[in-house]
Amino acid sequence: ASQEFTGNLIREVEKLFDASLKLTVPDGTSVDTEVAASLPGKPGDYQCNNAMGLWSVIKGKGTQFRGPPAVGQAISKNLPASEMVETCSVAGPGFVNLVLSSKWMAKSIEKMLIDGIDTWAPTLPVKRAVVDFSSPNIAKEMHVGHLRSTIIGDTLARMLEYSKVEVLRRNHVGDWGTQFGMLIEYLFEKFPDTESVTETAIGDLQTFYKQSKLKFDLDDDFKEKAQKAVVRLQGGDPIYRKAWAKICEISRTEFAKVYQRLKVELEEKGESFYNPYIANVIGELDSKGLIEESEGARVIFLEGFNIPLMVVKSDGGFNYASTDLTALWYRLNEEKAEWIVYVTDVGQQQHFNMFFKAARKAGWLPDSDKTYPRVDHVGFGLVLGDDGKRFRTRSSDVVRLVDLLDEAKTRSKTALIERGKDKEWTPEELDQTAEAVGYGAVKYADLKNNRLTNYTFNFDQMLSDKGNTAVYLLYAHARICSIIRKSGKNIDELKKTEKLALDHPEERALGLHLLRFAETVEEACSNLLPNVLCHYLYDLSERYTSFYSIHQVIGSPEEASRLLLCEATAVVMRKCFHLLGITPVYKI
Ligand code: ARG
Repeated sequence: ASQEFTGNLIREVEKLFDASLKLTVPDGTSVDTEVAASLPGKPGDYQCNNAMGLWSVIKGKGTQFRGPPAVGQAISKNLPASEMVETCSVAGPGFVNLVLSSKWMAKSIEKMLIDGIDTWAPTLPVKRAVVDFSSPNIAKEMHVGHLRSTIIGDTLARMLEYSKVEVLRRNHVGDWGTQFGMLIEYLFEKFPDTESVTETAIGDLQTFYKQSKLKFDLDDDFKEKAQKAVVRLQGGDPIYRKAWAKICEISRTEFAKVYQRLKVELEEKGESFYNPYIANVIGELDSKGLIEESEGARVIFLEGFNIPLMVVKSDGGFNYASTDLTALWYRLNEEKAEWIVYVTDVGQQQHFNMFFKAARKAGWLPDSDKTYPRVDHVGFGLVLGDDGKRFRTRSSDVVRLVDLLDEAKTRSKTALIERGKDKEWTPEELDQTAEAVGYGAVKYADLKNNRLTNYTFNFDQMLSDKGNTAVYLLYAHARICSIIRKSGKNIDELKKTEKLALDHPEERALGLHLLRFAETVEEACSNLLPNVLCHYLYDLSERYTSFYSIHQVIGSPEEASRLLLCEATAVVMRKCFHLLGITPVYKI
């Protein structure tokens, strides 16, 4: 039968084995098809591992089979005819090894080159998702933790978007805490004419925050005023609201600079947005009998936690948890999101686990955590300096993200100039490449690690052109593009007129890896692990190198086919870059 490639290779192979197992097992026996990609060096591309397990289920039931290898033989024999399959054979105690047809593989890649890589996009069981990421706090520092959240969240959003999910990218900024009382009071004191105060007059908001905090801690009168200011602000006093809005606006402009540089899109719906809904949501939880009185506060007791979740403070005010419960309610009911993903440092895990649990108790979410609507806390580790301690710069104890990005760019520019590129390229080309490489390096260094581990921030390492770095990968891609350019062939013409062949082992291995792109994205999405995609991309460049170091492309009899293979590699690499938020470069 002709088998159209839908993008997910392992799923296609599973379908074949599903059909075979239905014919192989006696009626009424249920089996979960176990298919895995074969390890390198093993016979076959995929293997089905059901024979042994199946044997232990059926052996007592008068089966005609004599041992697992015979079960394996039957699975292999019952495999439906498909143009995907070259051979299917049984090894050892019943492993069924499937070798894909190189012809079919080549045809599927040719088709992708013509129809575009979006035809390989995975399909996820959700239509709309919220990714809550970045989410710095107004006036407080936007630190490297927020940078991690921004980078990881953006990638997850991109992968979901590629998988045809509508993503609401939410910046849950901390714009409603008690810190606003002192900030506003301090603003009034320093700038009696609040109307006309400008961003530059306030200067650095972080310093402003520190100064007001100092005053708050030392001056009792000020402290009292600040506490009253919170009440007036939350009561809706227009003068206080205006001052609050001003401070938020200044912060927003600062954050926007970072987002713009990183090319990250986000829609701000800060904590204040949910404020008008909190009372009703708490009311609903109360009517469900979830809320109890404890030491003057109102709390939800949750099984498995030794402290209760506080939802109304003893002074009657709301807190981080009341806002998050309300935001969850809003996202589920108003925005109709089926998957809500929160990206913060692992330090906040308990907070998320607690309000997730409260939401399950309220019946907002199913009991099992992998069924939809689904919520996930995507935690990440700390950013460390070379000294193994929390990352800081020499000059100050906070790392300004803008400075960090500046330095990445400057360093990558210097490296390009050392290689004489300032003489070869226009100043714009130099600048754009330096930026793509510098920012790409910062992002990739973060994403390639398992997000839960701490990672060490090191410019020299991330900007090295050797090893698993963005620089190495960007250059690998640019080199492929330059081979295609140098051939002097029109690649779009070749796509229409020429055939791809995967006759040599290195060509075939590269082709197989290309075909595994979609299943990799799907895995990275389902497990919310961007490093899975980074790993794939690095592997891809290695397989390309193995191919290119042995086989001549330009001027060989296989030139046309090999140019198509180069192009397919470049297309998949570019899609990976896109999903990782990295801008590809074409010249090196
Ligand atoms: N503003 C918080 C922080 O800086 C992160 C908010 C994360 N999102 C959420 N819905 N709680 O730590």
